[in-house]
Amino acid sequence: MCEPLLSVNRSPKDEEQEGRVSLHDLKPQLADMREEVLAGLAAQPRRIAPKYFYDKRGSELFDAITRLPEYYPTRTEVGILESRLDAIAGMLGRGNVLLEYGSGSSRKIRLLLESLRPLAYLPVDISREHLLGAAEALAVDYTWLEIHAICADYADGLELPWRPPPRAGVDVPITAFFPGSSIGNFERPAAARFLAGVRRTLGRNGQLLVGVDRRKETAALEAAYNDSEGVTAAFNRNVLVHLNRALAGDIDVDAFAHRAHYDEREGRIEMHLVAQRAVSFTLGGESFDVEAGESIHTENSYKYAPEEFRELAAGVGFDSVAEWSDPQAQLSVFLLRAQ
Ligand SMILES: C[S@@+](CC[C@H](N)C(=O)[O-])C[C@H]1O[C@@H](n2cnc3c(N)ncnc32)[C@H](O)[C@@H]1O
Repeated sequence: MCEPLLSVNRSPKDEEQEGRVSLHDLKPQLADMREEVLAGLAAQPRRIAPKYFYDKRGSELFDAITRLPEYYPTRTEVGILESRLDAIAGMLGRGNVLLEYGSGSSRKIRLLLESLRPLAYLPVDISREHLLGAAEALAVDYTWLEIHAICADYADGLELPWRPPPRAGVDVPITAFFPGSSIGNFERPAAARFLAGVRRTLGRNGQLLVGVDRRKETAALEAAYNDSEGVTAAFNRNVLVHLNRALAGDIDVDAFAHRAHYDEREGRIEMHLVAQRAVSFTLGGESFDVEAGESIHTENSYKYAPEEFRELAAGVGFDSVAEWSDPQAQLSVFLLRAQ
């Protein structure tokens, strides 16, 4: 989560050597976090929003998940981007502003940067330290790239804190990138609202390249979220470590076990933290009593059939103008354009 504002003042020398990085910290409010988390924990069933996974440690653990043999989404999406790069880059076009939602370590964007030669890159992420580290690493490797790192909650409807001046009186088109199947973390109606917000943020001539995990057989899905090394379990439990620190809590993290299963009817993976015994704790000044066996629902990851996703996008005014998939049809990358 973004903590109080820390601005980055790079000297002209740094900028010259390492490209240009500006941090725009929109400071998702700590007060909102407390209210949202406490309301979720008091609800039945209890829940914590997945965005709270991502403190610095959570971002590192997510990176470790992407390297696991069971976790097919990252290597599948990277494979699609690599193998279809010419076609994708040809359709996206060069010289746009490149905005990435949930940029994390900004690894996948590296596959596109040389081909797209964007005017500027705007990574958006809630995990501020990780965002800044990734932006600075990118600036070292792409010295020609202007980077505006935006620490924000993208679910709130993003107001861009920086836009390039119009060229010849015309706004520079914005190309957005939303990889990692993170759209699946929204309930289906919320995914539609999110896409509608993206369309507003992008404005005229905006386009969105988005990675979407597809419905598939239960065994492959459940293996991906229950890895044998226990990294996903550590990632799931780390949300409690983050909340203890951010909201002065005393949750016994070890009292909760990781559970993930696929609900085929809903077409979603659910992640839970299940109390192994009765647990009492305080958080943000409130007290909670969780019974043995009770669960806290920490994440949904909705899966889509391609036609289902195209319909969702069309419902908020996006045409799906291209779709690329892998040979096993595990994941699709869609290019959406405003109708
Ligand atoms: C599943 S990871 C994907 C990372 C990377 N894009 C990839 O494809 O490997 C989700 C990323 O989105 C960020 N994130 C999650 N919820 C967010 C929110 N509501 N607003 C902004 N960033 C968010 C996390 O910090 C994390 O870096």
